[in-house]
Amino acid sequence: MSLLIIGGTGTLGRQIVLQALTKGYQVRCMVRNFRKASFLKEWGVELVYGDLLRPETIPPCLKGITAVIDASTSRINESQSLKKVDWIGKLRLIEAAEAASIKRFIFFSTQNAGQFENVPLIKLKYGIEIKLKRSTVPYTVFRLTGFYQGLIEQYAIPILENLPIWVTNESTNISYMDTQDIAKFCLRSLQIPQTTNQVFFLGGLKGWVSSEIISLCEQLAGQEANVQQIPLVSLKFISKFFGFFEWGQNVSDRLTFAEILNSQDSLSESTFDLYKTFKMAPTEIIQLDDYFLEYFIRLLKRLRDINFEDVQKQKNLII
Ligand SMILES: NC(=O)c1ccc[n+]([C@@H]2O[C@H](COP(=O)([O-])OP(=O)(O)OC[C@H]3O[C@@H](n4cnc5c(N)ncnc54)[C@H](OP(=O)(O)O)[C@@H]3O)[C@@H](O)[C@H]2O)c1
Repeated sequence: MSLLIIGGTGTLGRQIVLQALTKGYQVRCMVRNFRKASFLKEWGVELVYGDLLRPETIPPCLKGITAVIDASTSRINESQSLKKVDWIGKLRLIEAAEAASIKRFIFFSTQNAGQFENVPLIKLKYGIEIKLKRSTVPYTVFRLTGFYQGLIEQYAIPILENLPIWVTNESTNISYMDTQDIAKFCLRSLQIPQTTNQVFFLGGLKGWVSSEIISLCEQLAGQEANVQQIPLVSLKFISKFFGFFEWGQNVSDRLTFAEILNSQDSLSESTFDLYKTFKMAPTEIIQLDDYFLEYFIRLLKRLRDINFEDVQKQKNLII
């Protein structure tokens, strides 16, 4: 089976690429910058130029492809391209997939898609889900929550650098997941015919509130966090009027995230069915505590090495 992966340079995409190669799939990635994607070529991927903003570049990428895995999304720093990439680009991609008789199209949506008309990305994601359902392409949609990887920037780094962590007064329970596990589900769906034309809510087994994540990081870092509590209502006000401050982007991102995830989704019951469908044992899933533990061990070792190198350099200077 030959795969076209879009977004292979991204956080989730690169995990899918790595696992697909390990499983022996032929992997092609549609990339818009060969230099940036050179690591994928080193892994053994075929790179083809393509840009969702340039529809004429899409059909050549699909030649000889069995399944498309779309892990792309507009980059935060290219915010004007949100509608162009996550809507227009994806519509052209689905049309091209129909024309190329693609056997499976995997799309990553977000939790609670269909409920937040006021959040542009969520609205576009839901729109694409509908387009896929109406298309002739066999699809699988995964509605995702947050990634473990995003928590490093959100909690671990601010604690280590003594920067403020903004939390709301809401105790939102979020079942974050490691992108390595999302990649496992994604590739497994290609082998399970019952997952065709289905939408799955994909979440980890445990829900976490921000205070739990903060105390976990505090323990591992051996440092206290600088937590700034702010009511959700004030956060809305602040993000609207002070969005141009350095921390404005962070605050408004967090607000959107808190709003979207604040409504409880049907996690518990459906999660167990989901793991059964995908023949995935809960023990196979990477737990957040283990993920953070590994991160801090690696980081602290790196800091010790740097410290050791500095001491050696200073000794050499003295000699
Ligand atoms: N991150 C989360 O917590 C989260 C939560 C729910 C759902 N999701 C969904 O999961 C998927 C993967 O997210 P992610 O965080 O891994 O994404 P990411 O790290 O931001 O990567 C985005 C990818 O899309 C590519 N891309 C951007 N614009 C493109 C264009 N015009 N044409 C072709 N490719 C383009 C980027 O390529 P370049 O390297 O060239 O920029 C990159 O490979 C997305 O669908 C996202 O919406 C993510």
